[in-house]
Amino acid sequence: MNIRSTVTLNTGRKMPVIGLGTWKLTKDTAGTIEQALQFGYPMIDTSGDYGTQKGISEGIKRSGISRDSFYLVTKVEENEDSYRSVKKNLEELGLEYADLILIHRPPQYGIGEQLWEGLIRAREEGLTKDIGVSNYSIDLIEDLIEETGIVPAVNQIEWTPFGHSDEMLFYCMSRKIIIQAYSPITRAERLKNPLLVKLANKYDKTPAQLLLRWNLQLGTIPLPKANQRTHLEENLEIFDFTLEEDDMHVLSSLNEKYSALGSLPYV
Ligand SMILES: NC(=O)c1ccc[n+]([C@@H]2O[C@H](COP(=O)([O-])OP(=O)(O)OC[C@H]3O[C@@H](n4cnc5c(N)ncnc54)[C@H](OP(=O)(O)O)[C@@H]3O)[C@@H](O)[C@H]2O)c1
Repeated sequence: MNIRSTVTLNTGRKMPVIGLGTWKLTKDTAGTIEQALQFGYPMIDTSGDYGTQKGISEGIKRSGISRDSFYLVTKVEENEDSYRSVKKNLEELGLEYADLILIHRPPQYGIGEQLWEGLIRAREEGLTKDIGVSNYSIDLIEDLIEETGIVPAVNQIEWTPFGHSDEMLFYCMSRKIIIQAYSPITRAERLKNPLLVKLANKYDKTPAQLLLRWNLQLGTIPLPKANQRTHLEENLEIFDFTLEEDDMHVLSSLNEKYSALGSLPYV
C-alpha cells in the first residue's frame, strides 16, 4: 500500500486511502491546502458549513494540480435543500464536480430521504461522481436503501481504536460501504495513552501515525486534519511499516466507545 493506493467503492469507482480533514483549518486554508497537495495528499474532506471551501479553491489553484489528480469530498447539511447546496458548494470550491458528496448528518426526524434524492439527482447530472452519508446508524442506512434503492458509497463516522464498532464494520463490509474515519487522531486527546505510546515506540513511529495505520490496515479511510506543516508531513509517513496482527488487536481492544465530539452516533 502507498499514498496512491485506492479502495473500490460499491459503484466501481476508486477512492484514495487517506485524505486531509479541513474542519477548523481556517488559519491559512489556501496555504495549507497548497502545501498538502504538494506533499501528496490525494484527497480533501470539507463541508458547506466548515467555511473552508473558498480557501480550498484558492489552494488548489495555487498548486496548479489537475482536477483528476485529487479527490474532493464535501457535504450538505441536514436542514438544507441538498441539490441547491451541492451547487452552492461547487461554486465556492470553483469546481465543476465533486468526487463524493455526503449528507452531513441525519435530520432530527426521519431518514433524510429528500436529502438523498437531491444527491441522487446531483449525481445523475454529473455534479458529483458518488454519494454517501455521514453519522448514519445501520438502521438509518437500511431505511434509506429500502426507500430509495440506492446504497451509499460511504459512511463517514468518528472512528478510532478508542471508539469504533465491529457491528458497523461488518455491516459496511457486507454492503460494500466504505467507512471514512473522522477525528482519527482523537483531536489529539488520546495520544498519551500509555499502551499506544508503548506500541508507537516499538515501531519507532508516533502515536498519531499508529492511529492512522490502524485505519489503513482495517480498510477504513482516515481523514486527519493538521494545521501544522510537521503534522501534515508526519501523517503521510504511514506507508513504510506494518502493524503485526496481534498489535492490531491490542489497538482495537482500546475501544471504550470514546468520542471527541461527545458520543458516537452509530452505537
Ligand atoms: N462528518 C462529520 O460529522 C465530521 C465531524 C468531525 C470531523 N470531520 C472531518 O474529519 C476531519 C478530522 O477530524 P478532526 O479535525 O475533528 O480531528 P483529528 O484529525 O482527529 O485531530 C486534529 C487535531 O490533531 C492534531 N494533529 C494532527 N496531526 C497530529 C500529529 N501527527 N501529532 C499530534 N497532533 C496532531 C491537529 O493539530 P494541528 O491542527 O495543530 O496540526 C489538531 O489539533 C475534520 O477536519 C473533518 O474534515 C467530519
